[in-house]
Amino acid sequence: MDILVIGSGGREHAIVRKLRESPKTGKLYCVPGNGGIACDAECAPVGAMDKEGVLAFAKEHKVDFVFVAPDDPLAAGMADFLEAAGFPCFGPNAKAAEIESSKVFSKNLMKKYGIPTAEYEVFSDQGAALSYIRERGKYPVVIKADGLALGKGVIIAQNEGEAGAALRSMMEDKVFGESGSRVVVEEFLTGPEATVLAFTDGKTLYPMASSMDHKQACDGDKGPNTGGMGTVSPNPAYTEEMAKRCMEEIFLPTVKAMNAQGRKFKGCLYFGLMLTPDGPKVIEYNCRFGDPETQVVLPRLQTDFVDIITAVAEERLGDLEIKWSDKACACVVMASGGYPGSYRKGLEIAGLDEKGQVPGMPEVTVYHAGTKREDGKFYTNGGRVLGLTALGDTLEEALDTAYGAVEKVRFDGAMYRRDIGRRKL
Ligand code: AMP
Ligand code: GLY
Repeated sequence: MDILVIGSGGREHAIVRKLRESPKTGKLYCVPGNGGIACDAECAPVGAMDKEGVLAFAKEHKVDFVFVAPDDPLAAGMADFLEAAGFPCFGPNAKAAEIESSKVFSKNLMKKYGIPTAEYEVFSDQGAALSYIRERGKYPVVIKADGLALGKGVIIAQNEGEAGAALRSMMEDKVFGESGSRVVVEEFLTGPEATVLAFTDGKTLYPMASSMDHKQACDGDKGPNTGGMGTVSPNPAYTEEMAKRCMEEIFLPTVKAMNAQGRKFKGCLYFGLMLTPDGPKVIEYNCRFGDPETQVVLPRLQTDFVDIITAVAEERLGDLEIKWSDKACACVVMASGGYPGSYRKGLEIAGLDEKGQVPGMPEVTVYHAGTKREDGKFYTNGGRVLGLTALGDTLEEALDTAYGAVEKVRFDGAMYRRDIGRRKL
């Protein structure tokens, strides 16, 4: 099977590498890809949102299957468009992708079907939102832009002043564009967070191995929210018993609810969970693999990945059994100095071989997130640059190996957290 992957980050690199392991994979393409992905797949400068461009590429290269990895093209109907043109896809259609692209839709879905989540109200009027927050008088309070906002559309306000400022920036200054014209105001939940990705074809749902992201930029969960600075799998707080509860109270009810709404979800459903003292609750859904969760989950997958994605597309996932390795996996992200604010690009990365890996460390996989390759050298080209990833018999071992690799890689201003996987639960 010749496969085209759409996207350009560390997640896409992990997807490409996993597809490469399958004997069923023929040619592998990725658009637009990045410097590291280009070592494992043929990349081309076609934008992930460019439907016509992607279709032309798929036709020209006669690909058999398309894997749509990022949220924006899914929300914009990339899978609908390609399927209508005869290309089977992994990834939900636009109607199902709304589970991520509209927080109002997903919150209302959970309320309607009794899926546990934070208490909330929806507002399209700034004054009404502020009066509600004032009357409620409980802080912190969580304010979320309705639409996609590059993972930055959530503000945890500690007092009325911060809440007012958040509402102003979203609703009046429109820092997230139309995404902020409606907001969700919700209860602040506490507890360890867990990510569970799941394969589903709308009939069967198989949760993948659990993981834990580290969203804040700095050690001790300080600093601004980022796309994710590192991950571990399994998530130490996600016990067998919790997994059972989540399956019954959250995962299966979500699949049912989407079907009942005429929005059958096919692809990877991302459950962002808070394991609160009152039980697991959904913080957010995503309609795709997480980044950098994918980088620690897919290395643990033992079942042929091509078999899984084709079974999802053809709605026969129930025929498969999916196996996971018992090993632990850790990913430490190296980011550009200044990220998630402004940062420089084009800095040379030292310590990588011509394949973009750390020489002499075959036990480490370097997933490239924001790099470009020129004359066999790699340069920074994004906020998150690399994800240094290792498996181990224990989480400690995986972390030691990944951090050992971090020490060998250098670029000006490189920034990483020293406490990935070491959070006290
Ligand atoms: P999201 O973009 O929805 O994943 O939110 C970003 C981060 O904000 C989450 O990973 C949580 O750490 C935090 N967050 C979101 N909603 C809540 C909530 N209701 N209570 C506490 N923390 C939250
Ligand atoms: N790591 C969080 C996300 O992919 O949205």
